[in-house]
Amino acid sequence: MERRNFLRLSATSAMAVAIAPSLITQRLYAEDGSLFQSFEKVQLKDAEGNPVKASALAVEENYVFNYPYVGTPAIMVNLTSPAEKDIELTAEDGTKYIYRGGAGAKGTIVAYSAICPHQLTHPQPEMSMFHYIDEKGTTKAYKGGSFVCMSHLSRFEPKQGGKVVGGPAMQGLASIILEVDTEDNIWAVAVLGPVKFQDYFDAFKDEFKKFYGNRRKAKKLIKEEAKVQTLKNFSADIIRL
Ligand code: FES
Repeated sequence: MERRNFLRLSATSAMAVAIAPSLITQRLYAEDGSLFQSFEKVQLKDAEGNPVKASALAVEENYVFNYPYVGTPAIMVNLTSPAEKDIELTAEDGTKYIYRGGAGAKGTIVAYSAICPHQLTHPQPEMSMFHYIDEKGTTKAYKGGSFVCMSHLSRFEPKQGGKVVGGPAMQGLASIILEVDTEDNIWAVAVLGPVKFQDYFDAFKDEFKKFYGNRRKAKKLIKEEAKVQTLKNFSADIIRL
């Protein structure tokens, strides 16, 4: 069963906020109650083990890392303008949740689970059918400045908490909550929104065996750090229609 650690306001957490600024963000999300799961706080690092700096992220680049599990991919993007704040979203089952905005000095850094909520398409080393399309990438099939799943053209709005804005998906992307500390380091701390992790673990057993040895390893929680790389480095073929 997935770990659910819904934060509760308490005297204990109030004390923690006083000494750990990172918890302030967690509290803000937790006050809204639903569809928020805090996980291990992990630092994003590059392939050499150096911290990824928020100010060094290229604009509109797809950066891939796995979170909150060893085998669950996420994509981070530094957008051209800040993500919107306090967006109310609705999961397929009708549950409401609030997206509070992006991370970084300008609120332009967002990250989402890269598992399409329609039929679980996700980036793979051989190819990626799911990714952010830059603003100049508009085609007849979709509008740029969106996450697009090329399998059936579901489209998700990165500035509005991953809201589904096109295609057959019935709900938006789960957001990976990021924090940027005073030294410009990036941390993943939580997941907000409807997740498809269990469906994903059930559906791709052969893939997990191939890449991780077995599904059990893929289902382990990421600890301490998550390795980040560009999607163009991770996937041999990035599919665009
Ligand atoms: S699997 Fe993504 S749109 Fe169908």
